[in-house]
Amino acid sequence: MSEIVYASDAAAISANQLTGFFVGWPNPPSPETLLRLLHESDNRVLAIDEDENAVVGYITALMDGVLFGYISSLEVLPAYQNRGIGRQLVARMLDELNHLHSIDLVCDPDVQPFYERCGMRPCSAMILRRRNHINP
Ligand SMILES: CC(C)(COP(=O)(O)OP(=O)(O)OC[C@H]1O[C@@H](n2cnc3c(N)ncnc32)[C@H](O)[C@@H]1OP(=O)(O)O)[C@@H](O)C(=O)NCCC(=O)NCCS
Repeated sequence: MSEIVYASDAAAISANQLTGFFVGWPNPPSPETLLRLLHESDNRVLAIDEDENAVVGYITALMDGVLFGYISSLEVLPAYQNRGIGRQLVARMLDELNHLHSIDLVCDPDVQPFYERCGMRPCSAMILRRRNHINP
């Protein structure tokens, strides 16, 4: 099993290291869009398989820098799931946002047990999705 390293900087990452994400999306964002997302987010943590020279998981967050932070995306490639990478990504991001009062995210009910094990608790939310606003 290859070693996974973690990085909070995407400056050295290129789009061809970001393939295979957005599993199950009918109109998935391209690797180039994912690269922009990583650059434009306030915080990001990447899980990198150095042997494969590929990003195998990522988490991003947006914040106001004062009180509120929002975990906007988290994904681990299917072949790398259930190895503790997702938990590591959340733990490292929560550590980076340790100075904030609130850290929120939106998730499906099936992932709530995962986030509860990361120290979070369920809450209700409101959302809006524009399915044609992908790959701008
Ligand atoms: C959710 C996700 C990031 C977890 O990543 P992962 O690397 O597989 O997670 P870990 O290996 O750290 O798993 C930690 C624990 O959560 C459990 N877990 C993982 N995914 C789960 C899920 N969907 N539902 C319930 N439990 C889950 C694991 O079994 C493990 O339990 P354990 O510590 O008791 O053994 C990954 O399944 C994924 O990318 N899913 C698709 C995208 C997604 O749903 N992202 C979240 C958007 S809000």
